[in-house]
Amino acid sequence: MKTPDFRFHVPVDRRRFFKSMATASAGFTLPGFLAEALTLSPTVTQGPYYPLAKNIPLDKDNDLVQLRDHLTTAAGIVTHVTGRILDASGNPVRGALVELWHADREGDYLYSTSATRNPACDPDFAGFGQFLTGSDGRFRFRTVKAGLYNGRTRHYHWGVTLPGEKVRTTTQTGWNETAMDLTGKVWAIQNANDSVFSGVSDAAQRASMLPTYTAVAGTTTGEQETAWDYVAGRTFTEPTYPGGGSLVVAGVPVASGPGGNDGFRVTVPAYTGYSYEIYGNPTLAELGGSALPFAMAPSAAVDRTIFTATTDGLIDLYVTRQAVRGFYLVSFRVPGADTGTPGSAGGTGGGPGGPPGGP
Ligand SMILES: [Fe+2]
Repeated sequence: MKTPDFRFHVPVDRRRFFKSMATASAGFTLPGFLAEALTLSPTVTQGPYYPLAKNIPLDKDNDLVQLRDHLTTAAGIVTHVTGRILDASGNPVRGALVELWHADREGDYLYSTSATRNPACDPDFAGFGQFLTGSDGRFRFRTVKAGLYNGRTRHYHWGVTLPGEKVRTTTQTGWNETAMDLTGKVWAIQNANDSVFSGVSDAAQRASMLPTYTAVAGTTTGEQETAWDYVAGRTFTEPTYPGGGSLVVAGVPVASGPGGNDGFRVTVPAYTGYSYEIYGNPTLAELGGSALPFAMAPSAAVDRTIFTATTDGLIDLYVTRQAVRGFYLVSFRVPGADTGTPGSAGGTGGGPGGPPGGP
């Protein structure tokens, strides 16, 4: 469902941020209007194929089609999904972690328990991507149209973690079309008899999971696009950081990081139990726009996807890329939050997200 496009300026400083929010709330009647127009995104199973930490590529940005250092791109129909993360009142959510993972063109997931990644999965397909929303709540992904596998119709998996939340909330989107396999044969499982989509009883919610894709103007390769907003059916409180201050920090170049990689060192005032990831993009200096994750250097000390502090004090995190403007955003998650690694709450799990057996 389309909602009006609105945004307001959010400065970097948190006190000014909250002041601007209060001003915006007092001056607009939008929340009341949107409360009627918004359809809350249903929560459905995460499915069994959320990637394990060892499956997640170092390049886990919002472009699943092109892996860094790969000469070829993922096979399939290039597909663009843009949208916003909104709270239950229709306000854009800043600092929401948006995750996308899905099967490749042939229906194979990145997920594997026995190797670094499923060898059957297209080696040029990232299989997983992340985006941290800016003040406008917007996210953007470039990927390929999901492939089909036995037991399900075509679908994407989404994870959304709002600031301060401990558990990733999961939903899925499909296609408003008749699913056909790569030979053009009508697939046995369509939206109407798919266990996940047919399991959402509210018609408006079910329809919101099935956006319509259209051809991207000006391309000749069949690229498709859609706009899809995630509307959280809950409120949240943006957590304040224990030491106060900002987690927008500068990095310094280092000749050799802990993994032996050249890179950049980002020093963070860390607190026990908090988890950290590093993001950056050209608009980071204003904290506007939205942020993409930087890969941390693999080492015994620093997990390549996220680092959880075990003591208080300054910690050095190493990233493999220079922030365009020299500033990095260090995103924190509160103690006990789901970090997506094996064994964490919701990190893996069964359910009707996929067929029994291999990916
Ligand atoms: Fe799935």
